[in-house]
Amino acid sequence: MTRTIRPARRVSGSLRLPGDKSISHRYAMLAAIAEGTTRIRNYSSGADCASTLGALEALGVAVERRPGEVVIEGRGLHGLREPARILDAGNSGSTIRMLAGILAGQPFRSVIAGDESLSRRPMDRVIRPLEQMGATVRARDGRYPPLEIVGGNLRPIEYELPVASAQVKTCVLFAGLYAEGVTTVIEPVRTRDHTEIALREFGAEVRVEGRRISVRGRARLAGRDLRAPGDLSSAAFFLAAALLVPGSELVIEDVGLNPTRAALLDFLVSQGAAIRILRLEQAAGEPVGDVLVRHSQLSGGVIEGALTAALIDEIPVLAVLGAASREGLVVRDAAELRVKESDRIATMAENLRRMGIEIAEAPDGFRVPGNQRFRAAELDSFGDHRIAMASAVAALAADGETRIHGAEAAGVSLPEFFDLLDQVTSEVGAGD
Ligand code: S3P
Repeated sequence: MTRTIRPARRVSGSLRLPGDKSISHRYAMLAAIAEGTTRIRNYSSGADCASTLGALEALGVAVERRPGEVVIEGRGLHGLREPARILDAGNSGSTIRMLAGILAGQPFRSVIAGDESLSRRPMDRVIRPLEQMGATVRARDGRYPPLEIVGGNLRPIEYELPVASAQVKTCVLFAGLYAEGVTTVIEPVRTRDHTEIALREFGAEVRVEGRRISVRGRARLAGRDLRAPGDLSSAAFFLAAALLVPGSELVIEDVGLNPTRAALLDFLVSQGAAIRILRLEQAAGEPVGDVLVRHSQLSGGVIEGALTAALIDEIPVLAVLGAASREGLVVRDAAELRVKESDRIATMAENLRRMGIEIAEAPDGFRVPGNQRFRAAELDSFGDHRIAMASAVAALAADGETRIHGAEAAGVSLPEFFDLLDQVTSEVGAGD
């Protein structure tokens, strides 16, 4: 599908977003192995989280999809059924990596596969710890999906993550639920902690001491009534749109503000962004609030080290803001971007160049000078949801109509993206 984006006169109004993708995956997986019923309101509408539900159903879990919520009948830690078919993770790295931890705890064989993009993404990062715990995992070329997992009888481990990855941390902690004793993950830098929070909410014993996170195995999890906060990583595109387009003022309501994700807001504020938190409360251990954003001239800056891990999903749209900033943006330590849904350094650089933006790629990042103007162009999503949405944001500031091919990729995390963007943008020439 091709979408045409016209330059925006301003971005305004208020917006609520479907539930956080990271949190939705975790709630659904824990609900499946809990005892009793879990109701998840505002479950993510993205295809990725639908892949998780489909895989859970194939494991014998009853899932009811109602408008605005999902109800899951938990089967208990040991109640999953051997699947009769290959589990389909679709485009979702979270589904395959996190569910692998649960599959490793099952005394049966399962195979989990995904689409073309997922089939190119590295899985050795989960295979290694799961094998140390006693599972047998086979992969294409030892490293890529499909994964064939034969589990059961896991032993607890202490595992130092070689890459900063919340998906891998989650995989090991989920597997740890099936091991007798305490399983510990040590992170190189802090990553999103939704798993730690959700595990506690479902009744598991979790200890966090600095970068060491432990879970006690053989926990009894109990079904719960939960609500996923709006997705801050989806909100990032609308925040960026409002920051970019002069005269904009936008409120995003009911969005997740977990500090391990809200580094985005701190980073933008440090560059001069007019962002205010209007309301803040806690829901099931997760901070949630309303955010006001106004158009701002950003200074630009550097993203490196621990900040890179904290902003990893937002870097494509931050590249757009960087080109419009005073001093530009430098991104380092971001080699992980090359193994996301697309090689995001290459695909973002390609789209920006098509728009006349100068950008220099490095193996682990890029440098985009500031004070640049976006030219209307023919762009591609490269099958990557965040590239589709980041490109649409750039198009709002272009000098004419931009077309984005493969725009349906946005549906992986936010199928409503283009409708919501229409809702909050007024076009140049549309009159006051
Ligand atoms: C996620 C962790 C990150 C992130 C992804 C979601 C999660 O991936 O990029 O979109 O929900 O745990 P990595 O664990 O590969 O860093």
